[in-house]
Amino acid sequence: MSKAFYVTTPIYYVNDVPHIGHAYTTIAADAIARFRRLKGEKVFFLTGTDEHGQKIERTAEARGEKPIELANRVVKRFQNLSQALHITNDDFIRTTEKRHEKAVTEIFKRIEDAGDIYLSEYEGWYDVRNEAFITDTQYEEIMSLPEDKRPVIEKVKEESYFFRLSNYQERLLEHYSKFPEFVQPGYRMNEVARFVEGGLKDLSISRTTFNWGIPVPGNPGHVIYVWFDALTNYLTAAGFPDDPERFNDIWPADIHLVGKDILRFHTVYWPAFLMSAKLPLPKTVFAHGWWTVEGEKMSKSVGNVVDPYQVADEFGADVFRYFLLREIPFGQDGDFSKNAMVSRVNGDLANGLGNLVSRALGMIERYRGGKIPKPGPTGGSEEAVAEGSLLAIKLVENAMDETAFHKALGAIWDFIALVNKYVDEEAPWVLAKEKKEERLDTALWTVSRSIAVISILISPFMPVSSEEIWKRLGSQEPFNSLTLSSLKEGGLIKPGQAVSKGSSLFPRYEEKS
Ligand code: MSP
Repeated sequence: MSKAFYVTTPIYYVNDVPHIGHAYTTIAADAIARFRRLKGEKVFFLTGTDEHGQKIERTAEARGEKPIELANRVVKRFQNLSQALHITNDDFIRTTEKRHEKAVTEIFKRIEDAGDIYLSEYEGWYDVRNEAFITDTQYEEIMSLPEDKRPVIEKVKEESYFFRLSNYQERLLEHYSKFPEFVQPGYRMNEVARFVEGGLKDLSISRTTFNWGIPVPGNPGHVIYVWFDALTNYLTAAGFPDDPERFNDIWPADIHLVGKDILRFHTVYWPAFLMSAKLPLPKTVFAHGWWTVEGEKMSKSVGNVVDPYQVADEFGADVFRYFLLREIPFGQDGDFSKNAMVSRVNGDLANGLGNLVSRALGMIERYRGGKIPKPGPTGGSEEAVAEGSLLAIKLVENAMDETAFHKALGAIWDFIALVNKYVDEEAPWVLAKEKKEERLDTALWTVSRSIAVISILISPFMPVSSEEIWKRLGSQEPFNSLTLSSLKEGGLIKPGQAVSKGSSLFPRYEEKS
């Protein structure tokens, strides 16, 4: 049995409702999962929520709720996002579940048995918003910021369990140089390696001054540090520790998608915990950039937080997905603006893909009674289209291997442009007028086949439009059974199948005045 391809998102804090940042990682992970399934691979795609820790406890307190009540209420907003954005996660983990407590307790014990945990006292600063202990260097950095830009940090002095992170400096550096793909994009590796080269202090992994968390085994006065707890979610959902067979099939993760702000937790602490527990390391941690909104940092106080439900409602989930994955190279920062969205909708989607589908199917309805004709002899221009389609498939595969969604979409849209150009040049309306029936058959067939290829190629990114186009083409084959290799073969469409033009796939966005 081949191993499952395992892709994860971070698990989201439930102190707040989902925003564009959460939607972004989840959509990216979904595109990866769908693409792998299209390649015929077995996939395990995980997302979920991070429900413990001081931040959640305080937010709940401020609202007069119990932390679990807050979590139970907010988690639904994250779970329902899957329907709203057409996300195909195979599991949704909550860190308050029993299975997770078991996994965290077990890995804590294994690390303790390895001699990497000891009891001492932590005295220093803590950033509750980011749930992060502040190192001396970070403290200096924070203090050098203007006062209004400093994160709120609090002095902490309490008994604490420590993880011997300092023992792992050499092994981590060795791992980075042996597996450069461990941190992606490549330019992020330097930043991580430099941090580790700077020296690693032992890490506090328990707290005593609040209760909302998983107790330290054998010493329930301590709760386990929320990041130790949270990172373990990736093991829990893979069946750790009770289902070794499943665990071996799923773990290690092939790719953890994370925002750039939480890269260090995933590329320094996490591999060190795993090494200590003698578990395999994830293959890749990919850090994506951050979105600003209309040029400004997104924040509650500015009041510009983008609600993914609202965008999906206004533009459609597919358009939102397309925009996020096309607009910027995955890894870099980007700006979310209404203008940019509208220009993608009206340009790439309405004029590009939408126009191609509607004029092709419209012509089949007009000239061939709505049935795809059997092609006549083909020539050089058809060969060029066929080559273009093979090239697009190849480029999409290459781009997805390097998690470059914008390149994959770019290649598909280049092909769309090529097919639109083919239609302009062949001018089937002229062929119809001049009664060149065989040429007309060939042209309509060639365009139909190209649209079939496009409909499948876009499926990881725009699943709703993809299936809709497939249906309008009148294909009998069940959509879910299609694979990438079937694209390269004949038989995607058959002469005689009945198409329907339907209404506009991507209506042009007109500003309501
Ligand atoms: N709970 C931790 C993750 C634990 S994973 C074991 C956490 N949660 S979070 O809800 O605060 O953030 C989740 C993700 O949202 C992070 O990857 C973060 O980078 C991302 N984003 C938050 N704001 C963002 C933008 N403005 N743009 C893009 N992503 C952003 O951290």
